[in-house]
Amino acid sequence: MAQLWGGRFEGKTDAAVWAFNASIGFDIRLLDADLEGSIAHAKMLGKQGILTQEESDAIVKGLEDIRTSAGKELSLEEAGTFEDVHSFVEAKLIETIGEAGKKLHTGRSRNDQVALDMRLYTREQIAGMRVLLFEMLQTLHDLMKEHIRSYMPGFTHLQKAQPVTLSHHLGAYFEMFKRDADRCADIYERMNVCPLGSGALAGTTYALDREYVAQLLGFDGVCDNSMDGVSDRDYLIEYLAALSTIQMHLSRFAEEIILWNSDEYRFITIDDAFATGSSIMPQKKNPDIAELVRGKTGRVYGNLLSLLTTMKGLPLAYNKDMQEDKEAAFDAFDTVNSCLALFTEMLRSVTFHKETMEESAVKGFANATDAADYLVKKGVPFRDAHGIIGKLVLHCIGLDCAIGDLTLEELKGFSPQFEEDVFDAISLQNCVDLRLTHGAPGAAALEKVIALHERSLREMQIGMIARQARR
Ligand code: ARG
Repeated sequence: MAQLWGGRFEGKTDAAVWAFNASIGFDIRLLDADLEGSIAHAKMLGKQGILTQEESDAIVKGLEDIRTSAGKELSLEEAGTFEDVHSFVEAKLIETIGEAGKKLHTGRSRNDQVALDMRLYTREQIAGMRVLLFEMLQTLHDLMKEHIRSYMPGFTHLQKAQPVTLSHHLGAYFEMFKRDADRCADIYERMNVCPLGSGALAGTTYALDREYVAQLLGFDGVCDNSMDGVSDRDYLIEYLAALSTIQMHLSRFAEEIILWNSDEYRFITIDDAFATGSSIMPQKKNPDIAELVRGKTGRVYGNLLSLLTTMKGLPLAYNKDMQEDKEAAFDAFDTVNSCLALFTEMLRSVTFHKETMEESAVKGFANATDAADYLVKKGVPFRDAHGIIGKLVLHCIGLDCAIGDLTLEELKGFSPQFEEDVFDAISLQNCVDLRLTHGAPGAAALEKVIALHERSLREMQIGMIARQARR
């Protein structure tokens, strides 16, 4: 047990209490953030004359040495004797540079330190998530350009409804993941304020330069209330909510991939690399990756709810309950990162069976609305046209054929308004291509939206490069 406190204690900490209280097992992930934050703090203490320049320099060098050697030297066993990552770093520093190391914690508390570390770590996570979302968007964009004329049924109630294209269907997911990327950017902007300098809860009497620390760490500013600074976890809740939404989108997509890959649909084939077999049924090739993505959604929601619940009864300011933010957040970060990365890879390798999709649309009466609209254009009121086509569909179901398979004579039996041009009007291609309202699947309308996507992808890319350059 290597601890930072103890002066006030007469008895020893119970071993089980120590283990229960310790967070090193999971907060060791914050090591880089803790070092980065401590380096900025030490530089500021030197600049302000709170420490001598020599002391500040020695601390900075010591922390940098730990940073470069930590990966090699860090044995879990050694770290495991410490309470948390903050104690570990401080002890390592004192071991490396001696007495001056004991001055690092001047004007700082573990409360604002952990608030800073978690913010730094989460900020990197959000930036990384934007990159993963960008890759998903780029993949969808490429597929959209390729499948502008790949016709398929659009569904409502999981019943074939009206014809769309694969490009248009995938475009819906583009919109979802684009909103997710925008949400991440919003959260990043709001959370990018520095809590360091809040102290334990009430600031400090040392003349800290908080703005300088914030600037060194790439924050846009500092928090305006020290009690909020140490106890705000809103940004984590927001990000967990954003991750839950991303995972919900992935889960819907996964559900479609599973359906489309089934024997009943046969719209797609999942690549062997992303499927698994059965131990008993030799014929099986299961879409396990998509199922796991769908399945893991529950734990991401769970993590959000867990943190919301942890926070709900906490009096100001810091309470140890807040240590519970980490495992929930880390689990959500890891889960969504791996789900999104794998799903994008899987999507890239899917084979789309265009003919099967198109046939499914034709056979499924996806053009029935267009047949009714045809009669409307010939002067039949829509409600009557709806009834006529309904009867026609029933007739076709009996014959197991599509509307377009009937002869003009047969069609005229249902309405004298049918003419030779009906076959063109209800062809899948025309049904889709004439839907030209903004956001509709018609090729000309879709191409305009794809051009907008192209622009937002370029803007996202510029943003990511600019951020990289700032780091
Ligand atoms: N491990 C703690 C956490 O994650 C660090 C802060 C500890 N502060 C304290 N006063 N006990 O929240």
